[in-house]
Amino acid sequence: MRFRSRQVISLSKLESNYKNLRSICVDNKIIFMVKANAYGHGVVQIVRHSVEKLGITEFGCASLGEALQLREELYDLEFEIYVFSDVQVELRECSEIYLNRRIVPVISNREDLEFILANKDFDNFPLFIKFNTGMNRLGLDMDSVDEVIKSIKLSGRKSIYHLMTHLSSSSMPITKNKRNILQFENFEKIKNAFKSAGVEFEYSSISNSGAIEQGAGLEETHVRPGLLMYGPSSLLPQYSYLSKWKGEIISKLETYVISFFEVKKGQPIGYGATPCPSNGHVAIIALGYGDGFTTRYVGTHLYHGEIKGQVIGRVNMDMAQVFFPEESLPNLNVGDTFTVWDHSVDKFADFCKEAKIIPYEVFIGLTQRVPKRYS
Ligand SMILES: Cc1ncc(COP(=O)(O)O)c(C=O)c1O
Repeated sequence: MRFRSRQVISLSKLESNYKNLRSICVDNKIIFMVKANAYGHGVVQIVRHSVEKLGITEFGCASLGEALQLREELYDLEFEIYVFSDVQVELRECSEIYLNRRIVPVISNREDLEFILANKDFDNFPLFIKFNTGMNRLGLDMDSVDEVIKSIKLSGRKSIYHLMTHLSSSSMPITKNKRNILQFENFEKIKNAFKSAGVEFEYSSISNSGAIEQGAGLEETHVRPGLLMYGPSSLLPQYSYLSKWKGEIISKLETYVISFFEVKKGQPIGYGATPCPSNGHVAIIALGYGDGFTTRYVGTHLYHGEIKGQVIGRVNMDMAQVFFPEESLPNLNVGDTFTVWDHSVDKFADFCKEAKIIPYEVFIGLTQRVPKRYS
């Protein structure tokens, strides 16, 4: 545990991102994706705030373990939880949890579907079905749609609860990218097959962040935002002009300066004895790869106020070096707070671009050693 490095999470920024989302998806219901510890922001606090203050009632996890943690720690709140990837419904200990703890698996393969349809205990259980429309990861094969419908009918059901698919390329233009066009078309075909077979689906969804911020898929009842809610746009930088998103990063990553000293051009710094590129100053900050501040961040630019520094040398387990050339000397002293990222979406996007890392991974990469503080 660090004492002066922390991820400060602003719940009011989460609230303003939600308002921003609402300005795009005025009427859609929301499944807020909170897998991987709410994308590294602390799932319990994020879900509590979302239920109590934002009125969100549906959440998406990856695993049953994540869902169960929410049920157990937020037993006082009423909300729905869906498990999207490793549902393991055929395991007795898992199916009992689904049946008893109000957690719904999203069915993505025939075996799980047949298991649920054949199992009397699941007779009144809401069916959430995800089709593969071209992402080729999880999802029922769309060529099997007629057989799936037949199985559903044979089991005596006349409807399913939620029909969904997931996009592979929503960080690219929805109306121009061939894969996106194909996936939307395929989803239409699947919906039509259900309709013409007389099997109703109460709800449907296709859009995650990249599609939502392009205003796509809003004709479905639901949208499933993840990343946007935490601030960043999900579009590739070259397509940012397509985004309607005006959010802010909900967290700040703060550390402090352990040491600050003058250096000369060529002076070796830290492990590997990397020579300083010019005369200037080096700040040693209290974050290293042990905190999730990885070696990939070498070369990225970080700011102290408006003064731009650069991560140089090797990132260590516990520390990293930020270099400021002599023409841009920051007003920094040992013990001062140093902010790696703040609420600025643009600076965060630049940081990700320089590090060649996607925003998802930056958030999720922070380790337990960095405490989370909520404001
Ligand atoms: C099925 C599904 N829907 C929605 C999302 C949310 O995606 P994003 O964070 O890009 O909004 C995810 C995330 O992985 C997902 O797997």
